[in-house]
Amino acid sequence: MNMKQYLATTLFGLENVLAGELEALGAGSVRAHNRAVSFDGDAAMMYRANYHLRTALRILKSLNSFPARSEDEVYRGIRAMEWERYLDTRNTISVDTVLLSKRYRHSGFLSQRVKDGIVDRFRDRTGRRPSVDIKNPDVRIHIHLNDTHCSVSLDSSGESLHKRGYRTQPYLAPLNEVLAAGMILLTGWSPEEAFLNPMCGSGTLCIEAGMIARGLPGGYFRSGFGFQRWREYDPALFESIRREKYLEPHGEFRILACDHAGAAVQAAQQNLAGAGLLGKVALQKTAFESWETGLREGIIIINPPYGERMEATGLGELYHSIGDTLKKKFTGFRAWILSGNPEALKNLGLRTGKKLSLYNGPIHCKYHYYDLYEGTRKIVNKTKND
Ligand SMILES: C[S@@+](CC[C@H](N)C(=O)[O-])C[C@H]1O[C@@H](n2cnc3c(N)ncnc32)[C@H](O)[C@@H]1O
Repeated sequence: MNMKQYLATTLFGLENVLAGELEALGAGSVRAHNRAVSFDGDAAMMYRANYHLRTALRILKSLNSFPARSEDEVYRGIRAMEWERYLDTRNTISVDTVLLSKRYRHSGFLSQRVKDGIVDRFRDRTGRRPSVDIKNPDVRIHIHLNDTHCSVSLDSSGESLHKRGYRTQPYLAPLNEVLAAGMILLTGWSPEEAFLNPMCGSGTLCIEAGMIARGLPGGYFRSGFGFQRWREYDPALFESIRREKYLEPHGEFRILACDHAGAAVQAAQQNLAGAGLLGKVALQKTAFESWETGLREGIIIINPPYGERMEATGLGELYHSIGDTLKKKFTGFRAWILSGNPEALKNLGLRTGKKLSLYNGPIHCKYHYYDLYEGTRKIVNKTKND
């Protein structure tokens, strides 16, 4: 078996969840780093990782690491690599460079030198050269440069894996699909339990939950992956991985969502249709405060507005009413709330069980857990009667 080293990149705070997903897939030497997890595997494992993982953004395949302390050394090291193993002159390429050293001026110039190294090698040998396509290249090359070494890898995913292929309607500020899947996996939800997603917006959380419940891999609806455009792509192997019975669908599951905005419900409906979940997720146009689910236990995940477009007072009231509704109508549930406004979270008036940090794009968010055990209602009533 031809084992290689890979790096799966992810969002801050999801490293351990991703490591768990990789271990469950059977990857070797799984190790969590900052916003990435390294693992070993063969080509089948790389295909499987791209197809199945819910919390990875990209799967990078390590090709080489060589000593380099200047732009010229990078150029020479790149030119010496056997690029003809991975591409030919009919292919298009793009280069992304991450600089972890102050030795270099800017990443764009380094990317240019790396491209020159590859192109010059082909031109010397064949008289022809691969061309550059920034938007939709056949082969994406990743460069990491620190003070002493240049690491070269190929991006096997192509478009970022958060682009699942089911979303057609964004509606305001949709969550990144990788973040949504990570938020669900962090709760330890299992499809035997009810899953509630009030304030669902365009439906990212309830769709990711639906895909888990139906046993659909994270990449099930994607039109393709970067590795399918590589020279060494093995279509029969990928087909056999798509047919593997790795995930079991849950016959019955209860996923419920609501939003008070008609446009959000419409967007969620279209996205649910894109994921084959229309009619399988109970979606209602209603305010959370007047939502009747008829359920007594399960998981609730809420991603309320954070206040970019709201007055601070309005936001305080909104969070206060979320807290009240949880206490009055959802005792017996476990609730998780993601908010980019930690001050607003204080208005919930609930005791926080766990506090995690995540990023929603550039916004540093708190992801808080509240156990709404039976006693919660008693505590609230007692406080009111005191
Ligand atoms: C930050 S967005 C949710 C985005 C969503 N997670 C997604 O991925 O698209 C917040 C949503 O809360 C909804 N909302 C705000 N107050 C609400 C309330 N009291 N009841 C129901 N929905 C509400 C808004 O209409 C908006 O769609």
